[in-house]
Amino acid sequence: MTLKEKYQQYEEKMKAAEVAGGEERIAKQHKAGKLTARERVLALLDPGTFVELDKLVVHRCTDFGMDENKIPGDGIVTGYGKIDGRLVYVFAQDFTVFGGSLSRTNADKIIKLQKMAMRMGAPIIGLNDSGGARIQEGVQSLAGYGDIFYHNVLSSGVIPQISVILGPCAGGAVYSPAITDFIFMSKKNSYMFVTGPDVIKAVTHEEVTMEELGGATTHNATSGVAHFMGESDEDTLMMVRELLSFIPSNNLADPPVQPCVDDINRESEKLQFLIPDDPNKPYDMKEIILETVDNHYFFEVQPYYATNMIIGFARYGGRSVGIVANQPNNLAGVLDINSSVKAARFVRFCDAFNIPIITFVDVPGFLPGTIQEYGGIIRHGAKLMYAYAEATVPKITIITRKAYGGAYIVMASKHLAADINLAYPSAEIAVMGPEGAANIIYKGKIKTEEERQRAIENYRNTFANPYKAAELGYLDDIILPKYTRMKIIQSLEMLQNKVKNAPPKKHGNIPL
Ligand code: HXC
Repeated sequence: MTLKEKYQQYEEKMKAAEVAGGEERIAKQHKAGKLTARERVLALLDPGTFVELDKLVVHRCTDFGMDENKIPGDGIVTGYGKIDGRLVYVFAQDFTVFGGSLSRTNADKIIKLQKMAMRMGAPIIGLNDSGGARIQEGVQSLAGYGDIFYHNVLSSGVIPQISVILGPCAGGAVYSPAITDFIFMSKKNSYMFVTGPDVIKAVTHEEVTMEELGGATTHNATSGVAHFMGESDEDTLMMVRELLSFIPSNNLADPPVQPCVDDINRESEKLQFLIPDDPNKPYDMKEIILETVDNHYFFEVQPYYATNMIIGFARYGGRSVGIVANQPNNLAGVLDINSSVKAARFVRFCDAFNIPIITFVDVPGFLPGTIQEYGGIIRHGAKLMYAYAEATVPKITIITRKAYGGAYIVMASKHLAADINLAYPSAEIAVMGPEGAANIIYKGKIKTEEERQRAIENYRNTFANPYKAAELGYLDDIILPKYTRMKIIQSLEMLQNKVKNAPPKKHGNIPL
């Protein structure tokens, strides 16, 4: 072979890898409103930064005529590139090749990337669009999945792992995304389930569509499996870039700091009168968040799920923070199973990746009822308590109004080692609300409605304020709402060199 022929051979092989499943299948993918694997990688990364690995890898299966059917790359595009100039690893399943199904060699490509991402301390992003286990390969494919899951677990808490679902993701395949830190889904074409509609119909006689069972809306609003929903492939990938701008590349790095153009001493008169006089009237906690963060910009996580709890990322003075907040606008901001678990996982993410946690509290307590008790609110509520107590990152808490009972303790109280605890003058910190408390304390002693009202008022005057807690040092300060931004930034600056280590142990035993 001449040198020229060798170069030609090289070109042909590269072209074959790029065309992958062929023009017809690419057209089908586009017709469905989906990008191809390669287009997705390019849309995700900074222009011109993608470096592909294992482009010529092929499967080693010989059964079912597969030895006659080999496509370079074997249905997955892997490599590295940059997002906002920072190194990331990325793999994208190519639905045009055997439906993006996972072969043994396909898994090996992902695992190679997982190991590199760990060694280099860089995030790994998986773009999923796959018919699941490569049926022709049997247990080899299952082994591949298992090995990916194992490396997902090893990487957990070391590097950020992000899953983007842009097509089918079914069967056991869902468990790699499930272990990763964040799951993004595109609104129209993505779905995740352990068993599909046909199996469900056969076993339980339920009839359900793929969309209802495991579409983006289902997992973002109902199951809480997913964290973000994009309108299209492109939109979803842009959200991934945005998320990365808030988080560090690994557990030994600090989150990126951005130049802050928003006045760090900015006061907000709007906040002074946001909280209604009537303690039973709702208000929107997001307004407090938006009024205080840099450029009024809040990147909310799981905005459609357990909406009595708000979680998400923002910046104060250019520094990334994780925000956890009760939402009085929904279920009065009560703590229940879903909101506890939602916040607990977020707190643990922030703690693993050195992101300070700001907690805004307005919580009337835990949601009463058999549904909650039978569902295990005891152990689920304990998750949030555990997560806050375990977290060693800077923890700043602002009580805006109610902080009652166990929920007061759980929501990053001083007793769970929060660093700075602040409250507005409108705060009410007590074992329970004045009505319930008066009914119990004065049980049998109250004869008239007038006496009852007096008892309630008495309890309210004694405890439904922040001053008892401040006298005991459980609050570091009481602040006017308009100074919230300044106070948070001041506290973050004071806490930036915080050193706190957990006692040595293999690992704790969070009540899962
Ligand atoms: C091999 C597969 C495949 C698979 C799809 N293909 N899934 N090849 N293994 N798992 C191939 C098809 O043969 C077809 O090849 C091409 O991909 C596109 O598939 P279509 O069916 O034409 O596409 P579409 O109509 O869009 O349907 C997509 C689909 C369907 C819903 C995903 O293909 C499907 O149901 N596939 C099987 C899913 C499944 O049961 N997987 C195993 C699950 S168990 P051609 O050559 O015609 O283009 C599992 C266990 C994992 O995954 C456990 C991990 C622990």
